Amino acid sequence: MEQLDEAKLHSFVEKMLGDLGGAYSVPTVRVGFRLGLFNTLHRVGPVSAAGLAAAAGGLTERYVKEWALAQAANGYIDYDSGAQLFSLSPEQEMVFVNQDSPVYLEGAFDLAAAMIEGEAKVEDAFRKGGGVRWGDSAGCLFCAVGAFFRPGYVNNIVQSWLPALQGVENKLARGAKVADVGCGVGFSTILMAEAYPNASFVGYDFHEPSIEEANNHARSHGVADRVKFIAAAAKEIKETEFDLVTSYDCLHDMGDPRGCADHMRRILKADGTWMIVEPIAGDRPEDNMNPVGRLYYNASTMICVPTSLDQEVGEGLGAQAGEAKLSEVIRSGGFGQVRRAFTGPFNMVLEARIAA
Ligand SMILES: C[S@@+](CC[C@H](N)C(=O)[O-])C[C@H]1O[C@@H](n2cnc3c(N)ncnc32)[C@H](O)[C@@H]1O
Repeated sequence: MEQLDEAKLHSFVEKMLGDLGGAYSVPTVRVGFRLGLFNTLHRVGPVSAAGLAAAAGGLTERYVKEWALAQAANGYIDYDSGAQLFSLSPEQEMVFVNQDSPVYLEGAFDLAAAMIEGEAKVEDAFRKGGGVRWGDSAGCLFCAVGAFFRPGYVNNIVQSWLPALQGVENKLARGAKVADVGCGVGFSTILMAEAYPNASFVGYDFHEPSIEEANNHARSHGVADRVKFIAAAAKEIKETEFDLVTSYDCLHDMGDPRGCADHMRRILKADGTWMIVEPIAGDRPEDNMNPVGRLYYNASTMICVPTSLDQEVGEGLGAQAGEAKLSEVIRSGGFGQVRRAFTGPFNMVLEARIAA
């Protein structure tokens, strides 16, 4: 039997303490977002706990003090122990205050909470098989997912992902017809619509509350005249002759991604493009044993696999399927060309064309 190595145990427990510290911070960070404590600290810091409590609208000082010390212990805010003042560094501001920064993480914390809320249903599915319907596992899983992906979309879709596709930017500028399939709450659709005023956009998703939210977003962004959102499963989309179909972080969630690929081919023009944005992953599990793969595998266990297994076919690709598997699925739908057009730290962008 292998001998226990005290030094290894020590460093493993140290790692676990760090991990648990992150997990324990989920509720306090979310309280901080909801009560505007990070924003207030940014506005008025350096500040005492009493000053922060007052500036945040008269919160109870004792709670705010414990919260601030917890965030300081997390390393999420700074603490000057001599003056007993709290403040936010520019880097912390990027994560907790600046909503358009690529690393704004409010949605990521909400997603962690949604995964915990969904525990019982997913656990039940482990025992009985089958899946958990998108939106059933947690009250606002869909809002959390929208918020989680939004910072990446704000900073990448128009700047890097669409320009990486062959000839698509020009078509969009002239006025292309675009479908955003699996659009969720519609952030991706609206960002594209704002950047390309001559193009028309339809967002499709099978989850009706997401479509309702997407329509609200379109109205509040003043693009409701050019952007429609329709509740429909990917394989049930009726409209055809699209120049571009986009699928952001959703192909692997579908029960029948091959059937979806086949249908995307049917709704595209012959020279059209399907852009598939998927989580970054290597082709082998051992390539994904890293911090990003860790987040995705955990989310995949609690969200992506249950969503797929709830649907017909139930392919269960998972969020770490990798380029080779995804390309094979896309090709199985009749696409003659699939290439990786862009690689980012969290996503890969695949470009599929019908002609070989
Ligand atoms: C991880 S979310 C991504 C949502 C959105 N694209 C975004 O990036 O915020 C996956 C989305 O796929 C949708 N979805 C899953 N299976 C679907 C299907 N068969 N047809 C249409 N939408 C589907 C879900 O409702 C959900 O909105």
